[in-house]
Amino acid sequence: DWTPDQFVEATVADLTKKLGNDKVVMALSGGVDSTVAAILVHKAIGKNLHCIFVDNGLLRKDEFAQVLDSYKHMGLNIKGVDAKDKFYTALKDLTDPEDKRKAIGKTFIDVFDEESHLIQDVKWLGQGTIYPDIIESVSVKGPSVTIKSHHNVGGLPAKMKLKVVEPLNTLFKDEVRVVGKTLGIDPAILGRHPFPGPGLGIRILGDITADKVRILQEVDSIFIGGLREHGLYDKVWQAGAMLLPVQSVGVMGDERTYERVVSLRAVTSTDGMTADWAHLPYEFLANVSSDIINKVKGVNRVVYDISSKPPATIEWE
Ligand code: XMP
Repeated sequence: DWTPDQFVEATVADLTKKLGNDKVVMALSGGVDSTVAAILVHKAIGKNLHCIFVDNGLLRKDEFAQVLDSYKHMGLNIKGVDAKDKFYTALKDLTDPEDKRKAIGKTFIDVFDEESHLIQDVKWLGQGTIYPDIIESVSVKGPSVTIKSHHNVGGLPAKMKLKVVEPLNTLFKDEVRVVGKTLGIDPAILGRHPFPGPGLGIRILGDITADKVRILQEVDSIFIGGLREHGLYDKVWQAGAMLLPVQSVGVMGDERTYERVVSLRAVTSTDGMTADWAHLPYEFLANVSSDIINKVKGVNRVVYDISSKPPATIEWE
């Protein structure tokens, strides 16, 4: 019978043997899979694991600093790379969802490649690939999403001539969480909702600007904070907000406003392949809506997405 302790013991022994004194580079995302994979490799080879966490300018509010901090607390040899401007430049004027995904993926690879070359004699690329990632390698949204669960590093091994090490590639998500728990990883990290590699980039419909990112970060932070406060965070599988490319008329005091619309999305699911919209309490939605409109300048209307997958996807792009 499979137990997490046995898995950890066998995997670390295997990694120690396989990697010897070699150096490994890994991109971390703050998500469950890459974190658990990194901790396993770190247990085997310590400082020879070089981790890289890229700020693509499309993360949640304050997430870069918080996640970097928690990685440092875990003792990982991690470098935070602020590449916000590179991503914004690559995304300038792009509006097509696939073009945006490609620009984000390519920029990520460029940044990661550049950073990896700063590490002398690196031999391996570590990845948090899990078993379902291998089966689900083709997505409904087309070939560019093939790399989605691989944190957009799908093109890396060939380009960098690195060997690949994927310690979680026999596990399902729930098993990864159990292994993470055995490893003593913070439950807040293990219980995190999935967050797409292209981040807020696929939640801002139309072109992306730093200003729109700031607006959406504020909205998202109020929504997610509200879910946590009301004990709803763990009851939904994923949640987030979309910034729509529409303005609508409103009234504030005596003034007419003409501002942005955001759509909130929360779903229940087991694997993200199918999903139902979460039946959040009206009272909660009412409070979040007025909180957002009162606090986020530039937003005067909030709608709630009541579409299931299929036919709607979880993300809007
Ligand atoms: P959809 O929108 O296809 O999303 O219903 C299903 C799950 O996959 C996530 N997702 C992505 N994750 N890169 C990722 O790392 C991507 O390009 C990507 N697209 C969608 C989405 O957040 C949801 O959890």
